Amino acid sequence: MSFHAVDGSPDDGIRVVRRSALFVPFALGASLMAGRLARGAADADEDIAAPCDDAFRLLTRDEFAAHWRAAGRRLPAAALAADEVYAAQLAAWIARVPVEQLPRLDVGDRKPVGRLLAGPSWFPTPCIVVEFQMQPGAVLRPHNHPPQVVVTLALEGECEVRHYEVGDDAPPCTLIDGTEFEVRETKRALLTPGRTTSLTRSRDGIHGFVAGSSGATLLDFICATTDDIETFSYLEIGPQPIGTSRDRHRARWTGKE
Ligand SMILES: [Fe+2]
Repeated sequence: MSFHAVDGSPDDGIRVVRRSALFVPFALGASLMAGRLARGAADADEDIAAPCDDAFRLLTRDEFAAHWRAAGRRLPAAALAADEVYAAQLAAWIARVPVEQLPRLDVGDRKPVGRLLAGPSWFPTPCIVVEFQMQPGAVLRPHNHPPQVVVTLALEGECEVRHYEVGDDAPPCTLIDGTEFEVRETKRALLTPGRTTSLTRSRDGIHGFVAGSSGATLLDFICATTDDIETFSYLEIGPQPIGTSRDRHRARWTGKE
């Protein structure tokens, strides 16, 4: 996998000035933080003795399912802007469930397609979890989830995830006629166990994954906002950015295969 390196330009006068300008607020911030940490330690001592009913308490699988199902039932009737709240809340609940409590894929007679094995692993209606077992170097090609909100949790190994958004000139993903349009890469990240990434109907709506050298296992926590759970498409995305752009690429829908 490849990731953008952090720029390593040598120090020059401009950077010295910047550091000087930042020093005062940084020093003030550090001082304030030290005070907060001291108070935080005292608070933590009190919390240990308090009942574990706060927002950080671990959830059982059933408690998590109850929260998620209630939110999933309300999502279709909520405003589009609620997707963001839903996705953030779901990621927070996922972080509170010990991963060993999460149902895993019953592989049974399933066979991998290439280096990828996938299937539904849990059905807390109206939501669903799909597990992806990726062998080293496996690719889950970029695809969209138009009527869905998806939070992806990395369980094992590591992989790179990239998200994209379509431009205004994009045809519907059901039109598979080779028409080219523009996509913008909106996120590129490394997923390691415990990390999540998400897409909603209004941002980061395309995602694709490439497993690292030790492979990766991912769980997609999916909730549809309509009865349409069929519509989606893979894309071909040009490897080189358009012109002088760093993040815009030509793309076309390629259908479900
Ligand atoms: Fe997906």
